[in-house]
Amino acid sequence: MLKTPALKQVLAGIGAGALLFGLTACGGGDDSGDGGGDGLVVGFAQVGAESAWRTANSDSVQSAADADERIAELKFVDAQQDQEKQIEAVRNFITQQVDVIVLAPVVETGWTDVLQEAADAGIPVVLADRGIEAADEDLYVTRLGSDFTEEGRKAGTWAAETFAADADGTRILELQGTTGSAPANDRKAGFFEVLDAEGLNYEIVDSQSGNFTAEEGKAVMETFITTHGLEGVDLLYAHNDEMGLGAIQAIEEAGFTPGTDIQIIIVDGSKAGFQAGVDGKLNYIVECNPVFGEQLMDVVVQVADGETVEKFTPVEEGAFDATQFEAELPNRQF
Ligand code: AHR
Repeated sequence: MLKTPALKQVLAGIGAGALLFGLTACGGGDDSGDGGGDGLVVGFAQVGAESAWRTANSDSVQSAADADERIAELKFVDAQQDQEKQIEAVRNFITQQVDVIVLAPVVETGWTDVLQEAADAGIPVVLADRGIEAADEDLYVTRLGSDFTEEGRKAGTWAAETFAADADGTRILELQGTTGSAPANDRKAGFFEVLDAEGLNYEIVDSQSGNFTAEEGKAVMETFITTHGLEGVDLLYAHNDEMGLGAIQAIEEAGFTPGTDIQIIIVDGSKAGFQAGVDGKLNYIVECNPVFGEQLMDVVVQVADGETVEKFTPVEEGAFDATQFEAELPNRQF
C-alpha cells in the first residue's frame, strides 16, 4: 500500500542516502496527517523482549498505532536482540513497500547497506530508542528516544557527590548493556566523563556486559564476586534494571547486603527497580522512559508527510535517590 506516492517516487528516483533527510524534511506530501490515503503502513523492527523496559516500549508503540486513525497497520517484528534478524525484518519491510520503517537498532554499527536499500526504495527510516554511528546519520530521517549520555552523566553526578569524601578511592564494578549498543556505549561514556571532570579518585575493578538481561547480569555479578570478592568494592553501576536486579540476587546469595555493603545505581526505573529501592537494596535510579508510542506516531506521520523534523528528539526523563523511591513507586508505568 502506497500512501505517499509523490514523496516515495522522489526518494526512489534520488536513491541517495545523503539527500534523504533533506527531501523528507522539506518535501511536499499532503497535510492530511495520514499521507493522503487510508492510513500509513509502518514496519517496526524492535530490538527484542529483553527487559521490562522493552516490553513497555513495545506495548506503548503497538497500542498507540492501534489507537491512531492515521496508521492503517503496524507490522511488528521482535528481533530477539539479533542484528541479522533486524536487517532481515527491514528488508522484508522494503519488499512489502511499507510507507515508513521504524528501527530500534540493537547495536550502533553495521546498518549502512540496509539503510541505503531503504533509501533506494524511497522509504524513510525513523529510529526509535537507540541510535546508530554518526557515519550513517544521513541514512535516517530522525531519532526519537533517550539521551543515553545524559543518563550516564546523571549516574556519574550522583556517584561523584556520594563518594567525594572517599579518601582511599572509590572501587567500581560496572555491568554494561549489550556490547556495541548505543545505551551501553553512551551510559558508560557519560558516567566516566563526569567522574573524570569532578576529579573523583576511582578504580574500575571490573566491567563486563550483562546484555541487558537479569540472567546474564546475575551470572556476571557471580563472576565478579568470585574473582574480586566484594570487600572494599564501593559501587555497582548497572546499565539497566534487569542486570541490577540479577546482580542483587547474586550479592544476596553470596551473603552480602545490596545497597549497604555495596551501593548500586540502575538505569530504567521499572516498578521492580523502584521496589528494590524501597526495600533498601539499591541507592540511585536514573530513569529511561519507554512510553513514547504516541509521540512516535506523530513523528512517523510528519516524516511521511515530508514535514521538517528535528534530527533527534529526546524523551523526558528524571533521576531518583533513596529519599524519593517510596513516593515515586506508584507513578511507575512499567
Ligand atoms: O535502549 C534502551 C535500553 O534497552 C533499556 O535501558 C534497557 O532496559 C533495554 O534493554
